[in-house]
Amino acid sequence: MDLIPAPRTAVPDEGGRRFALGPAPTLAAAADGTGPVARWLRREIGAATGWDLPAPAPGTPGDVRLRVDPDATGGLGPESYRIEVGPDGAGLTGQTAAGLFWAAQTLRQLLGPDAYRRAPLPGPGRTWSLPYGTVVDGPRFGWRGMMLDVARHFTPKDGVLRQIDLLAAHKLNVLHLHLTDDQGWRIEIRSRPRLTGVGGWRARSRWGHRASPLWNETPHGGFYTQDDIREIVAYAAERHVRVVPEIELPGHSQAAVAAYPELGNTDVVDTAALGVWEDWGISENVLAPTEAVLRFYEGVLEEVLELFPAEVSPFVHIGGDECPKAQWKASAAAQARIRELGVDGEDGLQSWFVRHFDRWLADRGRRLIGWDEILEGGLAPGAAVSSWRGYAGGTAAAEAGHDVVMCPEQQVYLDHRQADGPDEPVPIGYVRSLEDVYRFEPVPPKLSPEAAAHVLGAQANMWTEVVEDRSRLDYQVFPRLAAFAEVVWSRLPGPAERDYADFEARMTSHYRRLDVLGVDYRPPGGPLARQRRPGVLGRPLEGPPPNV
Ligand code: ACM
Repeated sequence: MDLIPAPRTAVPDEGGRRFALGPAPTLAAAADGTGPVARWLRREIGAATGWDLPAPAPGTPGDVRLRVDPDATGGLGPESYRIEVGPDGAGLTGQTAAGLFWAAQTLRQLLGPDAYRRAPLPGPGRTWSLPYGTVVDGPRFGWRGMMLDVARHFTPKDGVLRQIDLLAAHKLNVLHLHLTDDQGWRIEIRSRPRLTGVGGWRARSRWGHRASPLWNETPHGGFYTQDDIREIVAYAAERHVRVVPEIELPGHSQAAVAAYPELGNTDVVDTAALGVWEDWGISENVLAPTEAVLRFYEGVLEEVLELFPAEVSPFVHIGGDECPKAQWKASAAAQARIRELGVDGEDGLQSWFVRHFDRWLADRGRRLIGWDEILEGGLAPGAAVSSWRGYAGGTAAAEAGHDVVMCPEQQVYLDHRQADGPDEPVPIGYVRSLEDVYRFEPVPPKLSPEAAAHVLGAQANMWTEVVEDRSRLDYQVFPRLAAFAEVVWSRLPGPAERDYADFEARMTSHYRRLDVLGVDYRPPGGPLARQRRPGVLGRPLEGPPPNV
């Protein structure tokens, strides 16, 4: 059946029989919880095939039948499903509405690559069929995510909606949006219009990695209006994808400081003269540790909470990584603040920020999540950690009873290059091939079973300093996201025992799906000429990545 991600069990018909659909198949949706999936199937499969998929005549079962049944899979979990295809058609049963949606995604794969088209191919003689058999399936993890950095290079709204469709096609269910950074602020905050009016734009961008002497002199920017965000969140929810917003503090904040100079350390730097950062790296221009800054960000987060209701994402990501301390060291005001708060130096100031928003979010029934640096100051029990500096932070957090999302840099940072050689565009980091990602294991073997239960799942992180548009984004993300999806969905054996040859064989079918979807993936043979960036400096690292 060539499914990706691989299902728990798939039992094909021994005789290779198939159920022929058409020319006008019917779709039966049982009363409860099936409406959105029926709508999705009519829209997506309808577009590809030209079918209307009407309800069957009374008393007849329907060629495709949708149902939600808590006993669908005998306990494979809330996102599990069963598909049975036989002489009377296809029955899709989800344990929940989410499970039914994943069943519909599997059905689409079973129909073949043309089921991903937006219009039927012309000409007579086109037939559609499904292989007889039974698929029983459910995910290994509940958090199967991708982080998209829309701050360094902005992905316009339609690109985000497309990315949500691509995540859903791979049964991934979390989109973490990195909405703010030194180089741009990308979410409208009505009470603070300069955040996007000023912070959403930069005059130019370095072209290539930090050491590159080149500049792209085209101004860059953009942001999502609050209605754009509502649309993104609702579109994702229909596809059972949760959107997790990230508002960075107290570092990676130069765009905010450029918009509102009083947010910065005004006694050591002329923040009124700052612009949105045009370079890559970690800006020294961090937030000042004042009560006024706390109130400012509370106001920002109040609007963010309204846009991302708790049902969509109980989690709000506050960043918390890579906060340089030079300005706080030099600032008399920050030093006075250290004494007044009785915190442990500049590191104590960073955890003071994090702990404040940890409590503030908890008071509002929400959960803080942050990069693993947030562990350094002690966390409220409900807070969770994105473990990026290897597995260590996640391991410590899980052993301390915190929930963890594993996203170790050397394993699942999709901005890192995927092959050796001079043709990789703007190569960054160590080589992380498709096979390397396929052998990524989210749960370190030394975790106790209690701690392992705190690993919510994993996400692949996509930073976009050297990724200037959608085509470059596709190139970095695919095909590796397909391997990642299988790691977090399917119950694969340990990394060394995984059958990569089998995965690669199924990828032959999957590349056809990606072709039809218009995904500009890295071909197995290397980049196409237009996918290269000759002469643009990256920062490749040699040898195997450090084992962290
Ligand atoms: C990160 O990569 N700085 C989270």
